[in-house]
Amino acid sequence: VDLSSWTTLGVPVRAQELLVLEDEADIARWLERRKAAPMPELVLGGGSNVVFLEDFAGRVVRLATRGYELVGEEGGARLVRAAGGEPWDGFVRWCVTQGWGGLENLAAIPGSVGAVPVQNVGAYGLEVGERIAWVEGVDRDTGLAWTLSADECGFGYRTSRFKAAEESSRVITAVVFRLPRDEPPRLDYPDLQRWFGGRAQRVSPADVYAAVAEIRARKLPDPRVQGNVGSFFKNPLVSPAVAERLAALHPDLPRHPQPDGRVKLAAGWMIERCGLKGVREGGAMVHERQALVLCNAGGATGADFLALARRVREAVAERFGVELEVEPVLVGREGVRSLERA
Ligand code: EPU
Repeated sequence: VDLSSWTTLGVPVRAQELLVLEDEADIARWLERRKAAPMPELVLGGGSNVVFLEDFAGRVVRLATRGYELVGEEGGARLVRAAGGEPWDGFVRWCVTQGWGGLENLAAIPGSVGAVPVQNVGAYGLEVGERIAWVEGVDRDTGLAWTLSADECGFGYRTSRFKAAEESSRVITAVVFRLPRDEPPRLDYPDLQRWFGGRAQRVSPADVYAAVAEIRARKLPDPRVQGNVGSFFKNPLVSPAVAERLAALHPDLPRHPQPDGRVKLAAGWMIERCGLKGVREGGAMVHERQALVLCNAGGATGADFLALARRVREAVAERFGVELEVEPVLVGREGVRSLERA
């Protein structure tokens, strides 16, 4: 089967088998099937954070369960449950339309609800883990249902326990969000401060949603127009000593001290300073407006993205002495790979 339309990168790749799971019965059939015909397997949500480097010698399982509903109230917050296969942005828009704030900073992000906890999706001053009450799923090896509270999910910057290899049998089927009723809008991200000019009064969730969607549209390529997976690298977290040394050499390098003492550096800024905006390897290109994004400029292959990612990483390491880590999941013939081993 051809997977090109199942990922936002739009790279032509094939898999042995593709299963689309729309309900509990499909999930049960899948669990039987994987016992009967074992092969490498990859569970996919919206396909907006995965890079196939070559054909995949296995089964791709796409979670496509749908539905969302208000499930309760808890200490001044609403609890809202959404199925894992639900497209993320449609769900966020639905919340905003109800007048329910809490997720609007995460407007216009491609992908599915079930995928957001895995990398603890974050943007414009909010990480989704802050709004998660618990995550529900099934263990694909044992068939048993599980529930993990937000605390148990181990959320960090672009990470969670769901990324750990030993947790790979967990499949997320639904996420329950805790949406605060009386929290002021979160407008501290520099782009939002500029947009609202310090006004926090009478800014509604819908206003923030619209602002974030517009800011994103200005600098991030729409994956429906030009294939991409959002940021291709994480913003590196370095020690205060390293940050100070870099600041002395590059006073305008954006730096953000973290609660744990480390300092987050803007990878996009460093890539831009290496003169890499618009640079290409085959059909893969460093985006012209947001250097942290690699995009499909036409006919890109997984190998093109690999070559470009290596080139970017080497340039940044040489110029700044900082190792960039790849953010999306890289998948080779047999499964998940790292840039070093790819
Ligand atoms: N910058 C440059 N040149 C560039 C890109 C960025 O100088 O080409 C500078 C900006 O001017 C700014 C700083 O770097 O001073 C940060 O840029 P921006 O606000 O665009 O955000 P980012 O750090 O590049 C992160 C997330 C994005 C998220 C935005 C907004 C990561 C890996 N990426 O990008 O998330 O939308 O912040 O919150 O943390 C994603 O993960 O796929 C993603 C798009």
